[in-house]
Amino acid sequence: MCGIVGYLGEGNVYDVLVKGLHRLEYRGYDSAGIALVNPNGNINIYKTMGKVDNLEKFCQDKDLKALAGIAHTRWATHGEPSDNNAHPHFSDDGEIALVHNGTIENYKLLKDALIQHGCQFHSETDTEVLVQLIEYVKLTNKCSLLDAVREALKQVIGAYAIAVIEKNNPDTIIAARKSSPLVIGIGEDATFLASDATPIVEYTKNVVYLKDEEVAVIRRGKPLKLVNLDNEETNIDVTTLKLSISQLEKGGYPHFMLKEIFEQPSTLRDCIRGRVVEDGKRIMLNGVNDNKERFLKAKRVVFVACGTSWHAALLGKYLIQDMCHLPVEVEYASEFRYSNPVLDEHDIVIAISQSGETADTLAAIKMARKAGSFVYGISNVVGSSIPRETHSGTYIHVGPEIGVASTKAFTGQVMVLTMLALSIAQLKNTLPQEKINELGKYILQIPDLVEQVLKLNEKIERLSLIYTYARNFLYLGRGYSYPVALEGALKLKEISYIHAEGYPAAEMKHGPIALIDEEMPSVIIAPKDHLYDKIVNNVQQVKARGGNIIAIVTEGDKVIKNIADHVLEVPEMPECLTPIISSIPLQLLSYYIAINKGKNVDMPRNLAKSVTVE
Ligand code: M6R
Repeated sequence: MCGIVGYLGEGNVYDVLVKGLHRLEYRGYDSAGIALVNPNGNINIYKTMGKVDNLEKFCQDKDLKALAGIAHTRWATHGEPSDNNAHPHFSDDGEIALVHNGTIENYKLLKDALIQHGCQFHSETDTEVLVQLIEYVKLTNKCSLLDAVREALKQVIGAYAIAVIEKNNPDTIIAARKSSPLVIGIGEDATFLASDATPIVEYTKNVVYLKDEEVAVIRRGKPLKLVNLDNEETNIDVTTLKLSISQLEKGGYPHFMLKEIFEQPSTLRDCIRGRVVEDGKRIMLNGVNDNKERFLKAKRVVFVACGTSWHAALLGKYLIQDMCHLPVEVEYASEFRYSNPVLDEHDIVIAISQSGETADTLAAIKMARKAGSFVYGISNVVGSSIPRETHSGTYIHVGPEIGVASTKAFTGQVMVLTMLALSIAQLKNTLPQEKINELGKYILQIPDLVEQVLKLNEKIERLSLIYTYARNFLYLGRGYSYPVALEGALKLKEISYIHAEGYPAAEMKHGPIALIDEEMPSVIIAPKDHLYDKIVNNVQQVKARGGNIIAIVTEGDKVIKNIADHVLEVPEMPECLTPIISSIPLQLLSYYIAINKGKNVDMPRNLAKSVTVE
């Protein structure tokens, strides 16, 4: 987590950096800071607790003249959020300033050694160790900043994306990465660096994604140079960004989350485009077509993911088991990586991640590759680490998701998983062609049906007022609706801070039913599917114990309508396609409850969009 920005070029350095920090704020927002090298060869550091707006207020009366600069928005790992722990950090002699995203695992060892050499520390962060180490190497070896950075990084265990500047040298920024993302933007008379391309796209479409252990040398008036830690020059692959500025703005909505919920008809159209062809008869996923042999010989599928992406993975299990007759396991990447997983070349490991940067998911991918498994990635952010570390994969193509709570990425992931299951089924002949046609046709209608479901917006806004002050919620579902219940509960808790539990409806009687009373609302996802009669029983069991029920039902449902306190009707769909449709009302319900409580839905407390630390 954390976002870093750097700029060396013409114009107002401070403005470019602060604008960039605003774009990266989704990565962390407990403190922010900026270091500016001014024309007199001094570095001014300004940093403060809180969001980037605070930093701007703090900087109002400061000297902001600069020729180059680096900036940071933090999500605390080592050391509480405080002015002192905020980045950038200075070296002891005040000559070097550095920003960092990642974690230095051996920081304690390095810190103790540096203290022995007389170094004084001013923060509790692991990052300060890096800048002190660079200073120490520079002074001891009497070398350039570039050489000091390279040599220091050789001693570091952990993850880093860093940008470093030094006093008396306003014409150079040194940047490097390992396991944390870093993008360099090449403009006409300026060079940018950032944790992702969003701060850069407004100035240039030409970017270079740094590889692990690559160091970028950014110099005024000279071309970008990349070297490895041994100072050997490496190739510069320039990529053209497809991102547009309008995708990064709220477009008239009060929050990114609401914009992203309402974008779903069009993001799902983008996700499906060119992949469901011949009026739904064929599913064309290049990642599958280019690797037919691997899919044909697969004996098992293992999903690895975190958070919302894990919920999508659980739906992937239902889809692949139902359509492809393959055993499927679903693992939290953070558990999987430390669980001695048994994998071999007959396994397909599918990693799902919106950001493409989640540290645990990346680590799981590396283990799977080592074990000889075929690794398939499902990501949103083009050029991120996961698509680069996997053998093949599919982008969900839903555009930048900025709200911390995942909405359009979830429906995009489920859409890709549905198409993936269908294309494997097509390849393996495990589903009759008529069934593929039927589902393909429905998939093409999903964007319009989502548009229809979004018309529930006002009803849900009114409904939210009744439940805003509930202290606990239960979300229940069976079969394909069980992962939807988990996702609905996660949405509510992460943005409204209300405790919510997602549960398989039939499991309720083994414990959670004891929680039910008139103060504990239950959200029950109960579309007409093969488990409908069973979930009607569960609805009755909740009602019999005095619980209030909000039910998501299929249009025209009469039975549950008579029992539940509120129903939200969604269009009838084949069972395996209901999750996309029934998750939309749950997104809106969480959004409005959080808004009624005055919460910051786009930047909920303690969270960050991209979890690049363990
Ligand atoms: O970028 P990823 O999909 O790998 O992120 C995984 C989780 O951190 C993420 O889904 C998180 O749970 C969201 N805040 C949920 O809304």
